[in-house]
Amino acid sequence: MSSFQEALDATIGYLESLKRAGVTHVAVRRETLEALDRPVAPPAARAASSAPYAIRHTSPAAAPQPASIAVPAPCAEVQDMFAERIRYTGATKAEKMASLREQALVCAKCKHLAASRTQVVFGVGNPETELMFVGEAPGADEDAQGEPFVGRAGQLLTKIIQTMGFNRADVYIGNVLKCRPDTPGAQSGNRAPTDAEMKTCLPWLQAQIEIIQPKVIVALGAVALRGLIPELSAGITRLRGNWLLYRGVPLMPTYHPAYVLRAYTLENRRAIWEDMLKVLEKLGRPITPKMRNYFKSA
Ligand code: URA
Repeated sequence: MSSFQEALDATIGYLESLKRAGVTHVAVRRETLEALDRPVAPPAARAASSAPYAIRHTSPAAAPQPASIAVPAPCAEVQDMFAERIRYTGATKAEKMASLREQALVCAKCKHLAASRTQVVFGVGNPETELMFVGEAPGADEDAQGEPFVGRAGQLLTKIIQTMGFNRADVYIGNVLKCRPDTPGAQSGNRAPTDAEMKTCLPWLQAQIEIIQPKVIVALGAVALRGLIPELSAGITRLRGNWLLYRGVPLMPTYHPAYVLRAYTLENRRAIWEDMLKVLEKLGRPITPKMRNYFKSA
């Protein structure tokens, strides 16, 4: 299959997953609509055009097309219509991630957060991983230590990761928002990030996903899921356990570990674990009968 067809399928898959989740409208930039409206040049003209998005066909069976087809801007626009892109350098995933991190650590797009944070909590783990966990935002513990999910919720997440058969360092853990949401006047406590804060910060996470190219993303909780896919209208209770697609990557929404700690019922613990079993299945990882039966007979 050509890269163009893959991109098209991914876009269609993503839109279909939104539709299944109850979304009836998506936000599209005016330039995108205008670009989609423009007539597409025939292949020969396109090959010679100066369109900015080029997809190279590597399959020898793909003849008699030219070796490199310039895809008209609308196609790449559709893939990218949800965010701005951040540039980074490097040959390996680790180098690219280091380049991205260097830029993120000095980000001051949200003036109020840059002023209140101790440090940017960029993300942690193996950039070569197949599995990525995405939370909402750092809390006080994470702000102090500079690492996501190190507080009580983080301890539960680490336990879940280990029960799945991974070490914490095998996977990648990040947040939609890289700075702790400020709590002016309060001595303690955390607040959820606003939609505007998450929208501003999202390009960093999108670049992390682009570098890692995980096989599966797990969205931890309703806020993280809304940060990733603002168009979703259904709640986490309905969406959890159901596969969505995020920029072509299978995405499993599940409960946030902090919610499970707050509502520590057998039902909630079973729910999050069943979602993780689906993730393991998708990754083709071993699942023992013992793993399958956790929480079944408690
Ligand atoms: N909750 C989150 O969503 N992210 C963290 O890093 C910690 C707690």
